[in-house]
Amino acid sequence: MPRFQDLIFEKSAFSLKDCPPEDWPEVAFSGRSNVGKSSMLNRLSGRRKLAKVSQRPGKTQSLNFFRFGEDSSRLVDLPGYGYAKVPKGVVDSWRRFMTDYLEGREQIAGIVQLVDCRHDPTALDKQMVEWLKQSGLPFLLVLTKSDKLKRSQRQQAVARARKGLDLDGEQPLLLFSSEAGEGKGEVLGWIDRALAGWEPEET
Ligand code: GTP
Ligand code: MG
Repeated sequence: MPRFQDLIFEKSAFSLKDCPPEDWPEVAFSGRSNVGKSSMLNRLSGRRKLAKVSQRPGKTQSLNFFRFGEDSSRLVDLPGYGYAKVPKGVVDSWRRFMTDYLEGREQIAGIVQLVDCRHDPTALDKQMVEWLKQSGLPFLLVLTKSDKLKRSQRQQAVARARKGLDLDGEQPLLLFSSEAGEGKGEVLGWIDRALAGWEPEET
């Protein structure tokens, strides 16, 4: 099991060429802006200031690479999508970069896809999940901010996500809270298995 408390920030990348080159597997965190990707990385590592969190959406504008130490696998904080106040030119260039990354990066061992547990999945969430299903990459669907739900709303939130995103019963999905720590162990276990299951492509 990689030691999550040893995670260190490695670099920010603004293009596929800019991403670290070595052949180590990585797990990336995807989701709309403000859904809680950076907060999740901080909770998983137990380090509150590892990834920058802000009240202001659109904070993470690059791909941010974290690693477990030298010669090791990585976690990647992807820029959030769907933030309306970003100029169209910027949205277009993110989209290009994200497509390059998702389709061109051989090191991806799995994706943690975050969706806010309080809301219906957005059109972009649905697009992203459709892409994930088609890609054949292992992914974990995480419903974030579960501390905001009443007990009685929890099952409903899970059912709404499964239905809205058209996920079958096999698809791993769980509730998570960066505030309360719910789901932390399960997410760590899933990431660990995804990293261990990755194999370099034959060239
Ligand atoms: P971008 O970098 O813009 O893509 O956003 P992000 O997905 O990294 O979200 P971030 O972690 O910055 O969190 C956005 C806001 O949601 C912050 O105000 C966090 O404090 C809050 N937040 C994140 N996770 C939780 C959670 O589990 N519970 C609650 N109550 N608030 C959360
Ligand atoms: Mg962020």
